[in-house]
Amino acid sequence: MRAHVITFGCQMNEYDTLTIQSELVAGGHDLVDHPRDAQLILLNTCAVRGKPVEKVVSVLGDLRKEKAAGRDLAIGLMGCLAQLDEGREIARKFGVDLLVGPGAITDILPAIEAFEAARDAGAARSRIDRLDFRTDLVGHLTPPPAFGTLTGFVTIMRGCDHHCTYCIVPQTRGPEVSRPLAAILHEARAMRDQGVEEVVLLGQNVNSYGRDDPAVPSFAELLRAVADVGFPRVKFTTSHPMNFTSDVIDAIAETPGVCDYVHLPVQSGSDRVLRRMAREYRRERYLEIVAELRAKLPDVVLTTDIIVGFPGETEEDFAQTLALYDEVRFDAAYMFAYSARPGTPAHARFDDLPREVKSERLGRLVERQKHWSLEANRRFEGREVRVLVKELGRDGVHAVGHSDQHHTVLVPATQVQRMGLHTVRVEHATPHALYGRLAGTRHDAVALPLAS
Ligand code: 5AD
Ligand code: SF4
Repeated sequence: MRAHVITFGCQMNEYDTLTIQSELVAGGHDLVDHPRDAQLILLNTCAVRGKPVEKVVSVLGDLRKEKAAGRDLAIGLMGCLAQLDEGREIARKFGVDLLVGPGAITDILPAIEAFEAARDAGAARSRIDRLDFRTDLVGHLTPPPAFGTLTGFVTIMRGCDHHCTYCIVPQTRGPEVSRPLAAILHEARAMRDQGVEEVVLLGQNVNSYGRDDPAVPSFAELLRAVADVGFPRVKFTTSHPMNFTSDVIDAIAETPGVCDYVHLPVQSGSDRVLRRMAREYRRERYLEIVAELRAKLPDVVLTTDIIVGFPGETEEDFAQTLALYDEVRFDAAYMFAYSARPGTPAHARFDDLPREVKSERLGRLVERQKHWSLEANRRFEGREVRVLVKELGRDGVHAVGHSDQHHTVLVPATQVQRMGLHTVRVEHATPHALYGRLAGTRHDAVALPLAS
């Protein structure tokens, strides 16, 4: 079939989409660039908050209309939403043909075959469901990205063993399973051979790597092993304060190539809220990690995730989050209003705060973060940073990339002859980006004409 995959949500989903696409090609299907040319559209979904679910529902609504108007189209719901009762209900309502969970993505070909067999036999259309958590997935090798891709993703572990009360992920992605070191290094080497300059190691909690399996090394050892493959840059996400241990900080500090950039979700500055969230650390431990990071990596860029308006959060609790902000001065933060997710403990146990309370607090936090982001970014003014320039910006005037420490950096497009690593002298900082000019160009950077 001519197939098209639409991806929602996080980088794990983007990586899973590559696996889905490679399975489709291996099964003799053709990938098409535009959904209008497809006979099969797969939605790789996210269920972590209400908004991404609404987006999926809106796309399904459009597709249902097209089917009603006579278009012969098969629709597959994959990813986190597919694993939930909520997803099953949505699938029923919108006439979805295939429902395949994130632990069963390697079942996509048999599911398509079963669907085609039923259709060819003239059977009334009934949905094909595949929702197991398959263990063979961790050994599955995703083929390298196309030549010229500058950033490559490697999933190092799947699932989550934490039980944060607001979060649906442990249900959608199952328990933690580390991928074998050999599979990770195989993918990393293939990427390096394709010219990938930056590899990002992915997992719900990368620091848990190896805890489920004595046969694999620790995360700190893995970082060193991946850096040895020979990438100019190694990044990783997401970390959990619970097991962000000193050996990880040492590995970052001692390994050239591993970037001084740590995304460490704190979620709240109040111990009372952290307890209700079932986060397994307290504010003081978080601050200790930050102090150790800054002592060993003076230039570290630190970002976080915050949930505002968790059930029962008082003005006093929120003031503690603001105070934590002032103490840590994050370089950037992803800030979310709490979204009650059916199936989570918090949804079952606690009453949601009024929407206005959540959005008013979120607004205050966003303002505070803007202030600290600007302060943090200003410290790079006048300095040189290494930037992986990847594309022409939306304004058509700048080329855009990311620094080693993950700042968004913009340079005049007219200066850029080739995509790849460049040294940039930062002239001006805003809360969201650094603006500068090329100071030098690495001559062996991967060639990708800007105009392409
Ligand atoms: N409501 C709001 N934000 C959430 N996150 C996870 N679950 C929820 C929820 N129910 C946020 C957390 C997490 C990030 C990926 O999404 O901050 O770190
Ligand atoms: Fe969700 Fe908590 Fe697991 Fe992160 S650690 S995926 S927030 S349950």
